[in-house]
Amino acid sequence: MKNITFNNIRVEGFGSFITDRTFQLQRDGIHILRGFNGAGKTTLFNALFWGLYGENLKGVVQSKLPTLKKYRTKEWRGTRVAISITVDDKKYLIVRHISFTGTTSKMEGGSKLMIFESGQLLSDELHKSDMQSYINEILGLDSKAFLSSILFGQRMKRFIEASPAEKRTIFESIFEADFVELAKENAKGYMTDLESEYTSNKIKSDNNTNRIETLISQESKYKELLKSFEDSRKERIEGKQNSLKSEKSNLRKLEKELEEFLDSQKDLQESIEKKKLEVNNQTELQEKIRIKERELDTISNNINSTIKEIKTARNRMDGYELEITTVKETCPSCTQPLPKEKIETVKKSIQSKIDSEREVIVEQEKNEKTLSKNLDLCKKEIEKLKSKLDTKVLQEFKNCENELSDINSDIKVINANVENSKKTIKNLESDIESIENENPPKLDLKSIEKEIKDLKSANKEFENRQEFLLQEKEDTDWWIKKGFGSGGLKSFIFNAMLNLLNKSIVKYASRLGFLVQFSIDMEKASKPFLTKCFNADKVELDYEEFSGGEKARIDIATAFAIHDVVSTNSNINILIMDEIFEGLDESGIEDAFDLMRLKAEGKTLYVITHSKNIDSLNCKHIDLIKENNNTLID
Ligand SMILES: Nc1ncnc2c1ncn2[C@@H]1O[C@H](COP(=O)(O)OP(=O)(O)O)[C@@H](O)[C@H]1O
Ligand SMILES: [Mg+2]
Repeated sequence: MKNITFNNIRVEGFGSFITDRTFQLQRDGIHILRGFNGAGKTTLFNALFWGLYGENLKGVVQSKLPTLKKYRTKEWRGTRVAISITVDDKKYLIVRHISFTGTTSKMEGGSKLMIFESGQLLSDELHKSDMQSYINEILGLDSKAFLSSILFGQRMKRFIEASPAEKRTIFESIFEADFVELAKENAKGYMTDLESEYTSNKIKSDNNTNRIETLISQESKYKELLKSFEDSRKERIEGKQNSLKSEKSNLRKLEKELEEFLDSQKDLQESIEKKKLEVNNQTELQEKIRIKERELDTISNNINSTIKEIKTARNRMDGYELEITTVKETCPSCTQPLPKEKIETVKKSIQSKIDSEREVIVEQEKNEKTLSKNLDLCKKEIEKLKSKLDTKVLQEFKNCENELSDINSDIKVINANVENSKKTIKNLESDIESIENENPPKLDLKSIEKEIKDLKSANKEFENRQEFLLQEKEDTDWWIKKGFGSGGLKSFIFNAMLNLLNKSIVKYASRLGFLVQFSIDMEKASKPFLTKCFNADKVELDYEEFSGGEKARIDIATAFAIHDVVSTNSNINILIMDEIFEGLDESGIEDAFDLMRLKAEGKTLYVITHSKNIDSLNCKHIDLIKENNNTLID
């Protein structure tokens, strides 16, 4: 609880308070502020209310507050209200200017609000709208609560008559339950923050998860790629090595074959070499045979031609012999016998021809004989030579030569094959080497793994944070809906405070003979305020059903009870009651004073009245008068 003491108020240029003067607020006991209608009584406290809250009791615009122009004096400096308060030993000066030309604590006038805390100006540090909040905070009351607990006037009646919702806001302010509303707003703001953080975390962590998935698939794709690369490399190397193996065995085979062929070649060459002499002999023999055979041919031809010649000679001879026998002894023309001698001569010549032919024949037959002899001889010689001829050797030699030539060409082929095979082997070996040296596809796995690890740990953090946020959201939601809701803390405070208020009302009302009780209908969702009034017989009546005087008593009792409740939080030294006796009879007034005396302990009670008749024991009087439209305090 804070102790708030209103020390004094300084007013200038405000309504009927034209000149600068200071009114002491802190006094002891009940003070009756008297003055005729329009003396400026209400204006004084209107200045107090305006000075504190910037509002006024009459609900007029601020421009209407300064003294009317026609009442202003030559010394007119504009409007200033300055209120001095002490809150728990801390001094405050709250000052409001409207077009003020003077200075306050060396600060220039103008139109402004200033707060001095322990003589220090706060205006520079606070925003204008924050300044009013700051004043409300200093007082622990806002303007509504102030009017419901400190400054009672016609407004009091309005409070009782106010709608449940209006009452609720007034009570919220009085009970400072608006902090619950504030807390609820804060909680809502906090909830928004939580939700936006939750959403943004979710987006971030989803992004991380996606990124992780991408990285993992990248990684596994790469591993697959690497594996298939290695598999294919292995397969290819194996394939090449198999080819190499078979090529090498092929080469070995070829080399062996070559060796064999070379051996055979050598053998053959050797045997050819060996056979050569024999073959030469045979060749010579053959040559001889050929010569002999040519000779034989010649002889044979000669024999034939000799036989032919013999035959021709014989034919000719036969012709001649026939000619002899047919030699004509007569002349063919004259048929005269031809001379014998002639005939003989002819016969002789033919005979000589025959003889010569015979000679030829003999000669030729002799020739033939010789030739035949030679032929036989030659044949024999050939036989003899041929008998010496060994065709097998030659054939073998030829075979050998053929074989050698075959082998030679085979060797050539094999050599070429060997060369090819060697080349193939070399190629295969270099293929294997180059396959072995092939670079596998590259990927920086380390950095990917690091990124995954980082992302995972970031997500773990998010997870923890989200868990916390969820819990926090749940809690905050509970506070918004329940804790700070109308059924929660607020209703708890309300119930507690209303309880206090009702008890306090009973304290006052028991003296006045009626009762007012406030409550909240917890059954209804809107938790409305209920005001119940009872008369002396405890019969419940509507406020309107009471008489004017009774209403006034109800108002006073309620006001005091509210003041009590407020005092549990802000113990304010003053209580102002502006024209509250209207409708009260004499005993009513006495009852009211009774209550006020109860209330005035340790406080200053200002009882404002225009009636000269209102008076009571132990009351001081302050008289207000007006001079030249200017209110003067006695
Ligand atoms: N702006 C103003 N300048 C000067 N006088 C004003 C101004 N506004 C109201 N008044 C007058 O001030 C007087 C004081 O009024 P008020 O304080 O309500 O009287 P009461 O003493 O009856 O409470 C009234 O006569 C009113 O006409
Ligand atoms: Mg008045």
